[in-house]
Amino acid sequence: MSNKAKIAVFASGVGSNFDAIASACKRGELNAEVLLVVCDKPQAEVVNKAKQYDIECFSFNPKDYASKSDYECEIVARLDALGIELVCLAGYMRIVGDTLLNAYEGRIINIHPSLLPAFRGANAVEQALEYGVKVFGVTIHYVDSSLDGGKIIAQRAFDYEGDSAEEVHRIGHAVEHKLYVETIKKIINR
Ligand code: GAR
Repeated sequence: MSNKAKIAVFASGVGSNFDAIASACKRGELNAEVLLVVCDKPQAEVVNKAKQYDIECFSFNPKDYASKSDYECEIVARLDALGIELVCLAGYMRIVGDTLLNAYEGRIINIHPSLLPAFRGANAVEQALEYGVKVFGVTIHYVDSSLDGGKIIAQRAFDYEGDSAEEVHRIGHAVEHKLYVETIKKIINR
């Protein structure tokens, strides 16, 4: 019997963090397996990435459901069916509702491209550049019902003095991929 931690990754876009997590599982660097990808944008690149890994993907259009609770009920049923132990949000650009939060309390984590609590929400890097910050960073935190809120688990900072959002994203993504894998490893080894 496998003793690997069962993980689900939620994403809305490119899925480079999903890629980092799935490949760490495949390499054996993480004693875990990604059993499900959840994506609220059926056309997103992460859907194809999931296919390449042969990982089940539930992609849905929120507009096809009467409410957030309706689609989250469906998500919870899928997580339960697979025995998911840890939900990793990786660029999932939706606020998690009570249905999912109550079912998976304390088992949902998120990665955000700023040193929270600064620069919550979308375009965190652009917000930080606009502010003129010189120290950027990445945060991983438990998820609660607020936007990019919840207790912080890990943070990593990096210096940057230029004005290119593209460059900050590039550096930040590399930091994110490493930090997410390290943090998941700590959580599942507890
Ligand atoms: C990541 O940079 C993640 O921190 C951010 O979305 C990006 C997804 O990239 N999340 C947020 O901004 C959450 N508020 P990816 O699809 O390549 O993993």
